Amino acid sequence: MCGVIGIVGTTTVTDRLVDGLKRLEYRGYDSAGIAVASEGPHARSRAKGKIVNLESQLAKDNINGTMGIAHTRWATHGVPNVKNAHPHKAGRVSIVHNGIIENFAELRDALKNTEIESDTDTEIVAHIINEALDKGASPQEAFSQSLSQLNGAYAFVCMIEGAPNTLFCARSGSPLAIGVGQGEMYIGSDALALEKLTKELVYLEEGDWAILTPSAFTIFDEAHTEVTRETTHLAENTAETGKGNYPHYMLKEIYEQPVTIHQTLSHFVDTAEAPFTNLKGIDFSSFNRLFIVACGTAYYSGAVAKYWFEQISGIAVEIDIASEFRYRQPVLTSDTLFIAISQSGETADTLAALRYAKAQGLKTMTLVNVMTSTMAREADIALPINAGPEIGVASTKAFTSQLTALATLALAKAEQTGQISKDEITAHKQALLSLPSAVDKTLLLNKSIKDFAKTLSGSSSAFFLGRGVYYPIALEAALKVKEISYIHAEGFAAGELKHGPIALIEDGTPVIVLAGHDPLFDKTVSNMQSVSARGAEVCLVTDAKGKETAKDMADHILTLPDMAPFIAPIALTVIAQLMSYHIAVHLGKDVDQPRNLAKSVTVE
Ligand code: M6R
Repeated sequence: MCGVIGIVGTTTVTDRLVDGLKRLEYRGYDSAGIAVASEGPHARSRAKGKIVNLESQLAKDNINGTMGIAHTRWATHGVPNVKNAHPHKAGRVSIVHNGIIENFAELRDALKNTEIESDTDTEIVAHIINEALDKGASPQEAFSQSLSQLNGAYAFVCMIEGAPNTLFCARSGSPLAIGVGQGEMYIGSDALALEKLTKELVYLEEGDWAILTPSAFTIFDEAHTEVTRETTHLAENTAETGKGNYPHYMLKEIYEQPVTIHQTLSHFVDTAEAPFTNLKGIDFSSFNRLFIVACGTAYYSGAVAKYWFEQISGIAVEIDIASEFRYRQPVLTSDTLFIAISQSGETADTLAALRYAKAQGLKTMTLVNVMTSTMAREADIALPINAGPEIGVASTKAFTSQLTALATLALAKAEQTGQISKDEITAHKQALLSLPSAVDKTLLLNKSIKDFAKTLSGSSSAFFLGRGVYYPIALEAALKVKEISYIHAEGFAAGELKHGPIALIEDGTPVIVLAGHDPLFDKTVSNMQSVSARGAEVCLVTDAKGKETAKDMADHILTLPDMAPFIAPIALTVIAQLMSYHIAVHLGKDVDQPRNLAKSVTVE
């Protein structure tokens, strides 16, 4: 889940490589580096940590050239330090890599007398190519032949001394796109990295490798046969990708939600009375079961949707974490629609699950934010959530857009199969159309949430409780707190607490209860009282009715503005997002780039 980029042209490339790296930093920020060349030897500059550190290093190294490769790292093999930073160099070869070479130990052992500088799998590949060059192979032969020795996942970009104005690249398991320019060519991990350089992209397919020169590119498939691949034209991206006036991307993205939810809805709903748009081609009546697979926050959106699909559209739903799904040999039947949910559309586990389901003959659907992603290209049906670029590592606006899209899907299924009355469907659609404004009003609670967050920031752990749809929302809330403030937080089904976790409650333990006033509210309140009785400091996050019923039973109450119960879980999520944001800010944490994480997890 590192980011790679390369440029081969006729003017200098260093600044543009660094700019491209900044757009890829969401993939990892353990170290960064670039290698550049014109006619002669390669020059390299690397730094531990974020790209800003590489910029300082570059100010000292002052390297440039008309061709270059660059990398931002999320460490897999070897600790984050300069020695392990890419590009790796062996003899005439400089290389950057996203992925994991699984047979690297075996390959390293075979290199016997070669001096190896780093702890990485990537350096081994550089040595293998260099060894082939030493034995007389041409640069093209050395590069292409090395690929057949590798097991695992890779997106490589490589320069070879003696092959001026030429980049070699290859893809297997990790995405890579060629960008076509005027008198120069680009290569990068994704469209985001290249969109400032060109709008014309050619995605490499699995097993492809390619050679780029300033004026041309040639693609070969796994069998080394020259092939052509489709050209994709990127739409003009008008989305604002800066922080604007916000101190962090995460806060900006939280505040964007009234707009992003509106964008999601616009794709599926015209008016409360009209049928859903863009879903007409999906015949839900041919499926008796849904199988939802995703990771992290995307998984929790699927877990919320399970309740909606079952309650509103009466279809059986199974849900699994992608990394578990692939290896447990799930029993899949042909009447099942497989749904992969992913913000990035590149998460390795979810992508592998999608491919597995496809190989088993299932119809596959994906719900993605990045419509140029691998999942969007490989699924039978790709539905956009239209949340716009999400830069903060902690997913916020993508989650609420996933929920919104999934709610429309559940309603569309009910509409097609007549599961609930037309009036009920119209009422739910009306509720969805009012969601942007409901979230707008929820954001006005920011000050009270911030005050409460301060009291939480001194705690070493916190618990989130919910029932029904609020249970996965509680899991998501706990994930947000963990990932950006590093406070130990857990989400629990409120009714499950008494079966063990309640032993963790002691005087002052913060417990945040997420509960709209739905048919399960009284039961959740009973569970809340059990933790209060054991000394917990309870914050109830509810709606006006819930507050009225339980106002004397919690130490703190945060009250949602008036809205339909159907959309309340989505709006309530915004309170949990702001809570986690303010805790992290209060503790002085790196909100947008939390330790050990990367935005897009493209390794298993
Ligand atoms: O791009 P994806 O939606 O497939 O990513 C899945 C998870 O890695 C992601 O949601 C992760 O859990 C977020 N950092 C959570 O905020």
